[in-house]
Amino acid sequence: MPDTFDLILRGGTVVNHDGIGLRDIGIRGGRIAAIGALAQASAGETIDATGLTILPGVIDTQVHFREPGATHKEDLESGARAAVLGGVTAVFEMPNTTPPTTTAEALADKVARATHRMACDFSFWVGGTRDTLADIPELEQLPGSAGIKVFAGSSTGDLLVEDEATLSDILSLTSRRVAFHSESEPRLRARLGVRREGDPASHSEWRDAEAALECTQMLVGLAEDARKPIHILHVSTAEEMVLLAQHKGLVSVEVTPQHLTLTAEEAYPRLGTRAQMNPPLRSAAHQRAVWQAVNDGVADILGSDHAPHTLEEKAKPYPNSPSGMPGVQTLLPIMLGHVAAGRLTLQRLVDMTSAGPQRLFGIAGKGRIAVGYDADFTVVDLAATRTIEGARMASKSGWTPFDGRVVKGFPIGTIVRGHKVMWDGEVIGAAMGEPVRFVGA
Ligand code: DOR
Repeated sequence: MPDTFDLILRGGTVVNHDGIGLRDIGIRGGRIAAIGALAQASAGETIDATGLTILPGVIDTQVHFREPGATHKEDLESGARAAVLGGVTAVFEMPNTTPPTTTAEALADKVARATHRMACDFSFWVGGTRDTLADIPELEQLPGSAGIKVFAGSSTGDLLVEDEATLSDILSLTSRRVAFHSESEPRLRARLGVRREGDPASHSEWRDAEAALECTQMLVGLAEDARKPIHILHVSTAEEMVLLAQHKGLVSVEVTPQHLTLTAEEAYPRLGTRAQMNPPLRSAAHQRAVWQAVNDGVADILGSDHAPHTLEEKAKPYPNSPSGMPGVQTLLPIMLGHVAAGRLTLQRLVDMTSAGPQRLFGIAGKGRIAVGYDADFTVVDLAATRTIEGARMASKSGWTPFDGRVVKGFPIGTIVRGHKVMWDGEVIGAAMGEPVRFVGA
């Protein structure tokens, strides 16, 4: 009796933890049921993946989708559409919304808004604050919670915990890996005068490499004292990478496509305030160090730091212009372009976007193509050459810092728990997004 599946992906080149090779994948009940030669099997639907490459679903653990509060920039639905168009099957969304995600009610509200309205699966970081210290153990464990995120340096929104005592209290209460925005608030405050009106390039001088290093040094020290795992978001400097390489046991590292692709020297003259983000773009020397960290394993994962602001907002003269760039739709195309250019291998990219997030955050049933796991796939055409265009961005912000960039390798299909949610540039089917599950949560 031949096997029967809901869906078969036939004849694709599958990239997973045990190698790269031609395999069929059979899906039943939203999970991977078989991997191998399934020529005799039948299915409700078959996708001919001949010539295509099938990656484990890309997980973007750092996006800002602005709902509730600033839905003129983005909402959960538009952000998720951008995600699946970029081949992303799950996102972890940040707490600096209005109201911020710092309470059980705010988290439950986001989960309710997102469920079966987002096209991808999701989880929400909960902001750690002094006022909600007592709730932290509970907030970490609630359905839909990705864990605690702390702004140790201020960025968009009001969330900020800069004093060591509170940071240490937060760590003492957590049992999951805590994510940090790491820039020293005292140093940023002391150096406000470094900013020059109308000159966004001074953003990188103000928020200098020392500000990032000082804060990361403090956080690493607190993590070692507390023996608690922490995660440093969007690491951008050479000096931090030297330090972080010595603390791999407890401290994990995220890098962004922006810091790997754009430099301060090149981007400010070309993009002006559109190149403004926190932590800022750096010199080519720092960028080389971030690439080194990708290739020697110091960097664990990639996050897009998708931080949409409208072009009108970005057009305000610096420093009134907001920091951040959209990126969830371009994370994979940009990185596939780097793969095609030989800057990293496809397996390393997959490790940083799928297995890596699973390992760091204890994601249940996602992050690899294996029997029993969720049927989340990013289907790519490694031979496709495409130009990234602002006009194709589904984000409400409607632009990209990578406009006009030609990349080789492009996501052409996104499958979430067996649902084909994007094919050939079209979002299809009903939105089926559900909370990501975590081991032990
Ligand atoms: O540039 C940034 N923008 N960095 C952040 O950390 C926050 C983000 C935003 O929310 O706009």
